[in-house]
Amino acid sequence: MLSDTILALKKEKNLAILAHNYQPPEIQDLADHLGDSLALSRLATEIESDRIIFCGVFFMAETAAILSPEKKIILPEPEAGCPLADMITAESLVKLKQKHPQATVITYVNSPAEVKAVSDICCTSANALNIVRSVPESEEVIFGPDKHLGRWVGQQAGRELILWEGFCPVHQKFSAEWIAELREKHPGAEVLVHPEVPPEIEELSDHTLGTGGMIRRAGESSADTFIIGTEKDMVYRLKTIYPSKTFIPASLEAICRNMKKITLEKLLHSAETLEPVITVPAETADAARGAIEKMVRYG
Ligand code: 13P
Ligand code: SF4
Repeated sequence: MLSDTILALKKEKNLAILAHNYQPPEIQDLADHLGDSLALSRLATEIESDRIIFCGVFFMAETAAILSPEKKIILPEPEAGCPLADMITAESLVKLKQKHPQATVITYVNSPAEVKAVSDICCTSANALNIVRSVPESEEVIFGPDKHLGRWVGQQAGRELILWEGFCPVHQKFSAEWIAELREKHPGAEVLVHPEVPPEIEELSDHTLGTGGMIRRAGESSADTFIIGTEKDMVYRLKTIYPSKTFIPASLEAICRNMKKITLEKLLHSAETLEPVITVPAETADAARGAIEKMVRYG
């Protein structure tokens, strides 16, 4: 079987397999570590192996490569991108910065390395709020590229942020009616949504959390049924951790096609060849590292 060959190669070549919580179930089952964007960035620096197969999308592997230039960061499908990350460029961010020269630039990790290189600090869904709160009230904040995350964080922090107009197409795929219907069908269920969802969906939730936060909440809560407003395979991840609880996807259409570009065949190819390796030009990596390191330090 493919998975047995991958496991044997992993041992023989001392590989570590990291996978994001949205990876297809068969990849989740093979991973040494699963996590959200923040946990995976930290793990990539902490784990001993210097050969990491990163099952996720490009910006995640790129961030790991910037943090650990001495390690081989292998992304089984380098075409696994993120449309949200592609909605911002360094040139256009620099133009916005020129209009607000005193502003602190907080950039979501779902962005290209060149954009991180012209940012003050990066964040993930797990620490965006704490990072915004760390900026003195008197300072302007530019937040991008996700406008929904930015709006929600600004609302929670009680301040107005200068928002970029980006969004995640996967997290647009929820309807208020479906959530209302699911609530009616499952009274007592908790609704957990990712902060990348639009405001009309966020308003219907009990908790707005990144994928790591959803895992924690499902463990702490006394509820036994949860309606999950994020990428569909998050439900598989949650069911694996809490087999006695019930998790219902808020939409079966919320599929990140880029995450699904990682297949067992491609993972096997990477385990055999240790390719394709993700590298970032030294000048960009050196300019982006400070903002990413600050992100990794924030809880
Ligand atoms: P998390 O960091 O919450 O896992 O989110 C990553 C992501 O890409 C959400 O679409
Ligand atoms: Fe990007 Fe959206 Fe996929 Fe997350 S779910 S990786 S933001 S496209």
